[in-house]
Amino acid sequence: MSADLLPLALDPHALRDAVRTLDADAADTRVDALIQAVHHHADLYHRLDAAVIPDRTYDLLVRELELLEDRFPRLVRPDSPTLRVGGAPVDGLAPFVHEVPMLSLANAFDDADLRDFEGRPHGGAGDTVRWTGIRKRLDDLGIAWDDVAPLAYVVEPKLDGLACELVYEHGALVAAGTRGDGETGEDITHTARTIRNVPRRLTGSGVPARISVRGEILFPLDGFAAMNEARLAAGDKPFENPRNAAAGTVRQLDPSLSAARPLMFLAHSFGFAEGASLPDRHSALLDRFAAWGLPVGEHNRVVHGIDGVLAAIADLGARRHDLPYEIDGAVVKIDDLGLQDALGFVTRAPRWAIAFKYPPPEVVTTLEAIEHQVGRSGVVTPVARLTPVRVGGVTVTNATLHNHAFIEERDLRVGDPVVVKRAGDVIPRVDRRVDDDAHDARPVPLPPTHCPDCATPLEPLEVKDGDGAKKIVCPNTLSCPAQLRAGLRHFVSRGAMDIEGVGGKLIDQLVERGLVARVSDLYRLDAPTLAALDRMGDKSAANVVAQLDASKARPLDKALVALGIREVGEATARELARAFGTLDALLDASTERIAQIHGIGDWVAGHIRRALDDDHLRAELDRLRAAGVAFTPVPVTAAPEPAGDDPVRGRSFVLTGTLPTLTRDEAKARLLAAGGKVAGSVSKKTDYVVAGEAAGSKLDKAQALGVAVIDEAALLIMLGQG
Ligand code: IVH
Repeated sequence: MSADLLPLALDPHALRDAVRTLDADAADTRVDALIQAVHHHADLYHRLDAAVIPDRTYDLLVRELELLEDRFPRLVRPDSPTLRVGGAPVDGLAPFVHEVPMLSLANAFDDADLRDFEGRPHGGAGDTVRWTGIRKRLDDLGIAWDDVAPLAYVVEPKLDGLACELVYEHGALVAAGTRGDGETGEDITHTARTIRNVPRRLTGSGVPARISVRGEILFPLDGFAAMNEARLAAGDKPFENPRNAAAGTVRQLDPSLSAARPLMFLAHSFGFAEGASLPDRHSALLDRFAAWGLPVGEHNRVVHGIDGVLAAIADLGARRHDLPYEIDGAVVKIDDLGLQDALGFVTRAPRWAIAFKYPPPEVVTTLEAIEHQVGRSGVVTPVARLTPVRVGGVTVTNATLHNHAFIEERDLRVGDPVVVKRAGDVIPRVDRRVDDDAHDARPVPLPPTHCPDCATPLEPLEVKDGDGAKKIVCPNTLSCPAQLRAGLRHFVSRGAMDIEGVGGKLIDQLVERGLVARVSDLYRLDAPTLAALDRMGDKSAANVVAQLDASKARPLDKALVALGIREVGEATARELARAFGTLDALLDASTERIAQIHGIGDWVAGHIRRALDDDHLRAELDRLRAAGVAFTPVPVTAAPEPAGDDPVRGRSFVLTGTLPTLTRDEAKARLLAAGGKVAGSVSKKTDYVVAGEAAGSKLDKAQALGVAVIDEAALLIMLGQG
């Protein structure tokens, strides 16, 4: 599948060698796969702000494609992403057409690439030596190297934000747009105006009658950390990285949201300028920008010759994590604007500039221990405990090791020095071990054979994608304390039995003191027992008992969710309840009948059937029923199909933020009663997002996907209750 395609090698040099080993046929097939993969990831990144592979892996996929196209020019397909830039605009915002296209930059990954950019000799000798790169172009133009060498370059941070263009007319900011596909982006004039350091008016002398200023909108790191903390506290999903946060913020339709976030802009180039003469050097132009009041980065440096470039890049690289915003490389530009013009462009990038990509930050620390965590479904995941270390601006103390195969493949042993990497994304990973003398003497870690919490023998996990052999699971679903704690938390949660007052701390105590060994034991708790626990009084104990009592009447779908059967989340439970009506009808249903239900395939049906046949589950169901849990039947209805004239029936809604009068649960109940579907996350299939105050990432996603966003008033009208 193109989404999983990886470059032939993860190191640019090895990649070059790997590409040379392909014959024309293999290259042909590979080019097709690369084009698909690059289009796919570019779309995720540019249009949806939802990259799934590290930026570096993406860059290397593009690089591989370029290398193959260089070697086999007949393989340059008309739809090759090397012939275009960026992504198409999202719906919802008006298009913004760039009068002068915003292009892309070629990438350099190492010193050799940078030297090639200026030029290396190939063929010929003495006076007739031929050159590549800039030197070739200068030769072609009849410009003598000795007249221009050493070339002056500007080395700038490659700002990792959202590229945009600001248009000023007679000094006033009149429009702003994102880069988009380079030709057409999105109009963000309304949000750009809320960025504090974007001047509404250019001041000083020599301001052109019309000028388009280009630069990057950034989310400063301190503001980003504070915002994510606040989002976590409010139960919202944190943003993946500052770039996504900046993109999500300026693409809001409502400027009050962007005004509330600390965005900043830094100018780095221009598109057009009319009605004034500009300086003849890029460095002087940046100074001029600053004189007009435009924000310009402080870390741009003029250097001479490619050695000066290499030194400046190394120096910036050493300081990159001390900057108050993220950068993903350095941009090298020829300073002389006349030379820039003479050198011109190739398809998508200027010949006079190149982007240097720093390798992802990595540090070495010690693998102090391998521990195992048991999740609600019993899956046992190895976790690396590390000597705390800072990497790419965050302190890392542990990192997932995914599964035992991951440990084996890397031959990791406790005590090994290991490389921790933060590759294009926020989550740090253990990448590999560093060889040391003591490694061989360290014991090879074995996968646990027994559950670290309940000592039950572990089993391989059976999962849908057949990848189960890599995962192990504690089969003691009913009384493993780790699973029990996680299972109880799930049982009492909002989407399940919704038992208020029973939080994580209380659950820990109940399990620790042996008061609860399975979920049905919750219903045996009485007020005096509860009142005797830490931080519980008579009143809260009585409240918990009342809440437990009330939960016995929860409808079948909620109670099914509460059982925590893998693959039975809220949506599936609703479909099951709708199709069977009662618990007994479901317990009697054949696999085939279950598989017919909307959204449930053969594999999931088989899994549900087996789970329902499990003796432990049956015994627990009996205990729950004996305790009075009613699995309250729900009306059997056909799965609603969207009805042309009915705005709710069969349509999918996502609720986010605080609505002015309805609670989320009320809104959900009304939608479900009217035949609507309510999902937890926004996708292309979502018909409407109902947004209230302080709506978070779901709103951002809806806007990114072009899903209709409505408020409570509109919802009530759609429900016929407005
Ligand atoms: S100059 C012809 N300078 O990188 C392109 N671009 O790959 C001239 N970028 O999205 C662009 N920092 O917004 C330039 N210091 C810098 C930059 C920079 C980041 C972005 C740019 C564009 C991408 C080009």
